[in-house]
Amino acid sequence: MVSPLVGYIPLSGKHMDEQFKDLQKQHGDIYLWRMGTQVMVFLHSYQLSKKPSAVVLFSTVRRRKCSDLWSLLLMVRNPVCNWKQRQHLHTNRRFSLRQLRDQGMGKSSLVSAIQKQARELVEALKGQASKPERIPRDLRVAVINIIWHMVANLIDGYLLDIEASKDDPDTIRTERDLCILILDLFFAGSETTVGTLAFMFFYLANHPEVQRKFQAEIDEVLPKGTLATLEDRSRMPFTEAVIHEVLRVSSLASLGIPHVAVRDTTLGGYLLPKGTIVWTAALTMHHDPRFWNDPEKFMPERWLDDQGKFATKKEGFLPFGVGKRVCVGESLVRMELFIISTAIFQSLSVSPPPGSKVDVSPVPGNPFIKTPRQEKVCFTIRE
Ligand code: HEM
Repeated sequence: MVSPLVGYIPLSGKHMDEQFKDLQKQHGDIYLWRMGTQVMVFLHSYQLSKKPSAVVLFSTVRRRKCSDLWSLLLMVRNPVCNWKQRQHLHTNRRFSLRQLRDQGMGKSSLVSAIQKQARELVEALKGQASKPERIPRDLRVAVINIIWHMVANLIDGYLLDIEASKDDPDTIRTERDLCILILDLFFAGSETTVGTLAFMFFYLANHPEVQRKFQAEIDEVLPKGTLATLEDRSRMPFTEAVIHEVLRVSSLASLGIPHVAVRDTTLGGYLLPKGTIVWTAALTMHHDPRFWNDPEKFMPERWLDDQGKFATKKEGFLPFGVGKRVCVGESLVRMELFIISTAIFQSLSVSPPPGSKVDVSPVPGNPFIKTPRQEKVCFTIRE
């Protein structure tokens, strides 16, 4: 519905994904959307999203009042932060990245924690084998336990920083900020990872031929009963292809986090005045026929070259966002998806309940995160 007073309200009854695709068809790769008094710009172009002028945009910032991610949900006003708030945000982001790296993000020290959770999850799935069941809550528990593993160490580092700067009147380290940081990590890192893994189970249930190839690679590379480590990634191109294809088709964080022009910025020939909110729509890029043949098809092979090698970089692929606020959990998620999925499909197969297909369309109504439905699937123990 378009009205001069309230702007555009998505009331057509179609899923938001479809509405964005329609809007892109109608208005092109960059357009403005007014909802009430809020003016937002939507970017559907991979090239525009990677432009330096897009990269300088920051996410919505009011960290001292409430968490970024919460402020997004509450749609707070005045999203452009002042210099001090920005300084604060960067320092906190740098701190979390450094801590996460030191504690093992992207390194093998986190591997054993992920393997432990993967083993427990496999046992839980075995416990519900051979009957149609929903994905058990053990998946969420596993993902949350892995975040806790990192956060426990991060808390120690942060508290030491608070102690060291307690006499500094300008300190930007407070216990409240620590709480916000932790909340952000749990909020941003749990449902996204759980949802991606659930979508993986659903897509593999509907595509037994892909699942067989995936399992054949696991069986060839990993001795029975051995869980994967990061070193195995280079020897498992089809596994990498499955993971990337799942990230593409599921596009969990379909709109990312809104970025805000911190100064007047020109993008795609348009002037974006300071304060404009900009959304980067990964979901439309991930289904854009300019980058993907048969974009609606689940086809991990598209990630492999003629020699069967995994082709790392692909245009049109932005599951973790872009620019200064790109996802801080990317390396962790990649480790989790690799270790957990190979552990599960080494021991189990998944299929839809007899005579049906799994509905892989997301739960309607949430434009920010694409949540998988509570579908039932059958896990069976592999001989
Ligand atoms: C499949 C899983 C995940 C997906 C698809 C995903 C995707 C994203 C995307 C698209 C953004 C916005 C980037 C931008 O603004 O350009 C983001 C931000 C963020 N992600 Fe993730 N994410 C995932 C998992 C995680 C995990 C496991 C963690 C940490 C434990 C995490 C922590 C964060 C944080 C803290 C931000 C905000 C960064 C900032 O504001 O500077 N994410 N994520």
